[in-house]
Amino acid sequence: MLQKRILLIVGGGIAAYKACELVRLIRKGGGDVTCVLTEGGAHFVTAMTLAALSENPVHTTLWDLKNEVEMGHIQLSRQADLVVVCPATADLMARMAAGIADDLATTLLLATDKPVMAVPAMNVRMWQHAATVRNVATLRASGVTVLEPDEGAMACGEFGPGRLPEPAAVWTAIEAALAPRQPLPAAAALPLAGRHVLVTAGPTHEPIDPVRYIANRSSGRQGFAIAEAAARAGARVTLVAGPVALPTPPRVVRVNVETAREMAAAVEAALPADVAVMVAAVADWRTADAGPHKLKKDGSGTPPPLALVENPDILANLCRNPRRPALVVGFAAETDDVIAHAVAKRARKGADWIVANDVSGDVMGGATNAVHIVAADGVDSLPEMPKEHVAEALVARIAQTLSPMAPAPSTPPTEFPA
Ligand code: C5P
Repeated sequence: MLQKRILLIVGGGIAAYKACELVRLIRKGGGDVTCVLTEGGAHFVTAMTLAALSENPVHTTLWDLKNEVEMGHIQLSRQADLVVVCPATADLMARMAAGIADDLATTLLLATDKPVMAVPAMNVRMWQHAATVRNVATLRASGVTVLEPDEGAMACGEFGPGRLPEPAAVWTAIEAALAPRQPLPAAAALPLAGRHVLVTAGPTHEPIDPVRYIANRSSGRQGFAIAEAAARAGARVTLVAGPVALPTPPRVVRVNVETAREMAAAVEAALPADVAVMVAAVADWRTADAGPHKLKKDGSGTPPPLALVENPDILANLCRNPRRPALVVGFAAETDDVIAHAVAKRARKGADWIVANDVSGDVMGGATNAVHIVAADGVDSLPEMPKEHVAEALVARIAQTLSPMAPAPSTPPTEFPA
């Protein structure tokens, strides 16, 4: 798919071994990858391993006369389409934030004119330390995409956020960061011209083993309709889609994901955005230990235990993100007390609006929807209508909220060019 060049800086942490898998995934996806191994990283993986997997020379030092003559570190920093730091240790991010350039990796990071993505991995205390929080905020403010680490048991025996996201999720984020940006329409006559709208849609699949997964009944139709309506209103749209068989709406950049963690990484990588509309039915739990082998019946009649762990709450995390879009819209699928639950959910998640619907009927696979838009200033209840019309009404309201000077729409379905 890609044919893009990635400069992968491998920092010094136990998670460095996962960088090897990432190299493999980049190659499998059609990308070219050149690795830079820090001194710390070389304690965990060898340059030989990365060279064999990437089929490119691996760079380890600033003071390599042959490399300097043939390539030069400035050129190395510029020839990639994306610079990925994986794993990004606390120390490496601190040095990046401070603008230090005392080895090859930090020099390249300071010299590059390309987008940079950092994939953190460290002990939970180190991740939550005020210094790291400050450094991550500095990096994000200066345009570096810092992915959220995973939560779980760590190599050091502690538990919490700080684990390196799975290589598949990092790869998804790389694909999202490299996805072609749609040119903006020249005329600003369209209500969302110049805006970037991020939409999540569909279910997530959480693997149990290589052939089985946990899923839900989300069809993706409502989210795809919103992405389409936003694109027709002139927005640049990134649609992060779980596994659904729907066609990509015209002029929409689609990023396919499978799991909640991949969706979280793709959302982070798609920032900044003006608006986020989180329609996806993200699985609340994933299996604690999906292994590479198919589970088998052992003849005892006792099924294997299925331990679950909680997935990241993508919407709530986005609302706390320093790069939070100006308008964040969540969805709430409820079977009872729809509005009361939506009001509580809006406060809990920190979203601006919650679009609530009753899913006790066949809404999840159906063509129509009746929604209540719960905002700070009250509840707007729309009658049951096709999901495409719900999408257009919502997009009209978004456009109105973002540009209070724009004329208010009268009938949303006739608002946009066909
Ligand atoms: O908590 P609940 O699943 O009811 O919240 C629904 C809203 O939160 C939707 O907008 C959904 O996309 C979002 N969500 C999320 N990440 C999760 C669970 C839900 O972004 N793990």
